[in-house]
Parts: sequence; C-alpha cells; structure tokens
Amino acid sequence: MTSATERLRAALGFGDPFAEPPLESLPEDLQGWAGRDPVLRRAVEIVRPRLVVEVGTWKGQSAVFMAEICRELGLDAAILCIDTWLGSLEHLVDDRFRPLLGVRRGRPTLYEQFLSNVRARGLEGYLTPLPQTSGTAARFLQCRGIVADLVYLDASHEEPDVLADLEAYWPLLRPGGLLVGDDCTANFPGVVRALTIFARRHALEPRVEGVKFVLRKPDVPTVRVRATEATATLP
Ligand SMILES: C[S@@+](CC[C@H](N)C(=O)[O-])C[C@H]1O[C@@H](n2cnc3c(N)ncnc32)[C@H](O)[C@@H]1O
Repeated sequence: MTSATERLRAALGFGDPFAEPPLESLPEDLQGWAGRDPVLRRAVEIVRPRLVVEVGTWKGQSAVFMAEICRELGLDAAILCIDTWLGSLEHLVDDRFRPLLGVRRGRPTLYEQFLSNVRARGLEGYLTPLPQTSGTAARFLQCRGIVADLVYLDASHEEPDVLADLEAYWPLLRPGGLLVGDDCTANFPGVVRALTIFARRHALEPRVEGVKFVLRKPDVPTVRVRATEATATLP
C-alpha cells in the first residue's frame, strides 16, 4: 500500500525531493517563529490529518513540529510545504531579519536549509516541498484535486496577500477541517484586518489563541439567505 506522502508526490508529479542529496547540506538550524505552538499540536491531534498544507515554511520549524507529532501519533500523514523560500517583505526590509536569509550568491539558502533540516530529523517520509508562490500553488492544487484536512497559513503578513491566501486555501480545505493562521497580533495589523474581512464575508467565527487564529470549516456549506428571499420561498 502506498503512503499518504507517496500518493501526494504522485499527484503533484515532482518525484521524491529527497531521492538525491541536496546540492548543499547545511547543519541543522530550525530557527523560526512560533512554530512549536500548542495550538498546532492540538490541531493535529484533533484532525488526525492525512494531508496538511502549510503555506509559509521558512526553515521548517512548524512543519517539522507537525511532522514529529504525526510520527508520534503513528499517522499516515503527508505535509505539503509551500514557500518561495525567498523570504517575506519583513525579512527584506528589517535589518535584524536579513542575516537569517543566509544569502549566498545573491540568493537566500532557506530551501537548502529546509531540506537539510528535514533530513537531519529523518522526516523525509512526511514532508514534501512545493517551491512556489502561494497563489500559483493554490491554483495548482485545485487543478490536481488536492483537498487538505488541515491548513497552516504563515506566509506573507500583508493584508491583501493574507486575504488572497485565505480565499485561495479555504476551498482546498475539507468540510470539518481546520485552518490555523499565525501572527494575529497588533504587530501584524494586516493579518488582523484580512482575517476580520474574511470571517465577515464567510460568516465565520475565528478563535484567537495567543498569536494563532483557528477557523473550522463547517461540515455543511453555510447558506445565507436574506429574510425577504426566505419569506418568498416559504410555503
Ligand atoms: C514567517 S515565515 C514562516 C515561518 C515558519 N512557519 C516557521 O515555523 O518558522 C514566512 C514564509 O513565507 C514565505 N512567503 C512569503 N510570501 C510568500 C508567497 N507569496 N508565496 C509563498 N511563500 C511566501 C517566505 O518565504 C517565508 O519563508
């Protein structure tokens, strides 16, 4: 029987990203942001996912955390990691963040770091990278009919990007699945504003726990009917 990861890789058509050694093997460095959060642990424990889609992976702190929980729980799970591995706006504009990109030959080495970290932890059977922008990746997943049990959103924190990511990944989540997002704080007003707009638009009630927000996709699609229309169709 094939594993969830083998089925995912076959659906994507990219092969096994760990079949060859990385071009550059780097010592383990799992620096990241709020990637080992209890909210993520609880989400994995509740959903017991077959497929997690992570949007915004960086060096892999949160992805490795979720993969280790899946391994601990004995789940046949695949975690798809979507990232350009080029960093976000805040990593470029803030002088404190730029050194974290590990720029070599004029380009960040985040992807090489991610691959090395996954190998160091022996998690090749769980994690699959998709180096792509979040928008194109979402459309690609839709073309391939891929449906996630759990989505973790932690890519750009700019309002239009977050709103676009929420709109793009919500349809890829199965009914009853969870979408967890990061940085719902005053430090990232764009995330808060995008979440507010999205939740109102889709009649959802986000739960905010620490810096994370959680949205549960209703089991049955919500049908919003205006009072006048409802009255008109009543017998
Ligand atoms: C805050 S970091 C992710 C942190 C990570 N989850 C962790 O546990 O440390 C955000 C990541 O999103 C990626 N990113 C930003 N905008 C993106 C976009 N439009 N498409 C794909 N990736 C993007 C950046 O390259 C960066 O690696």
